[in-house]
Amino acid sequence: MPENKWSTALKNLPLGLLHYFDKVDSTNDIATKLLNEGAPNLSIVLANEQLKGRGRNNRTWVTPKDTALAFSLILRPEREKIPLFSGLGSLAVCKTLQKKYSLPAKVKWPNDVLINGKKVAGILAEAHWLGNQLRGVILGIGINVTPQSVPVDIKLNFPATSVEQELGDEVSRADLLRDVLVELLEWYPRLNTGALLQAWEENLAYKGEIIRLSVGDDSPIRGRILGLNPDASLRLELSPREEKSFQVGEIHRAIAYEVCKYPHLHL
Ligand code: BTN
Repeated sequence: MPENKWSTALKNLPLGLLHYFDKVDSTNDIATKLLNEGAPNLSIVLANEQLKGRGRNNRTWVTPKDTALAFSLILRPEREKIPLFSGLGSLAVCKTLQKKYSLPAKVKWPNDVLINGKKVAGILAEAHWLGNQLRGVILGIGINVTPQSVPVDIKLNFPATSVEQELGDEVSRADLLRDVLVELLEWYPRLNTGALLQAWEENLAYKGEIIRLSVGDDSPIRGRILGLNPDASLRLELSPREEKSFQVGEIHRAIAYEVCKYPHLHL
């Protein structure tokens, strides 16, 4: 899609500058460079293809050309609640898919968007500091739009899907980008108000269900998802009188025998 189609779609949105590339290694890397060079707040780096897209925990994020959305927003926030940025990105994508496409999207803590239990989008929020001063946050968002965007030849740690697969219809990437940005611009001013956290919690995947949480290389912890704390950590019920919060971790579905083995977690 030519660059002017993208800028037409984003016309009238109160953004900074649009930097469009046909092909990049990673939009987050370019956005970081632009942040350091003084790019204005809410500037956007958008690419049609990524060669070295990055995910959380050093994972690869694949963006084949013409199939997906891969973009990074340069944010210069005044406050420093960094964990909330993953929620901002995933909630904006989740709400857009619900409102504009009537898809049953959910947010998988801390930074994925699921449709029908499969991952359709991932968020990579990276904070950059100058000493102990926050220089800015790069909010990278990747959305699988066409079925060809879903990688087939690499091992995924979670089943994946695309917006078009779930919708059963074609989707304009430019319209989807505009709608996600409109949603993001609505939530960004509410980052520190508690409203974002509440909406994030309301749209949490597996809420009330038993899941497995992997933290580093330790064996997974089983628990029932209770919700989120104000610092965006995840609240798990480990047993009837034991609740624990986690700042980081990777959620996986519990396998059937685990649900039977931990009947006290069924309420
Ligand atoms: C994850 O699922 O772990 C996060 C994936 C984030 C991918 C996006 S695509 C745009 C931006 N550029 C990157 O290199 N990564 C993010």
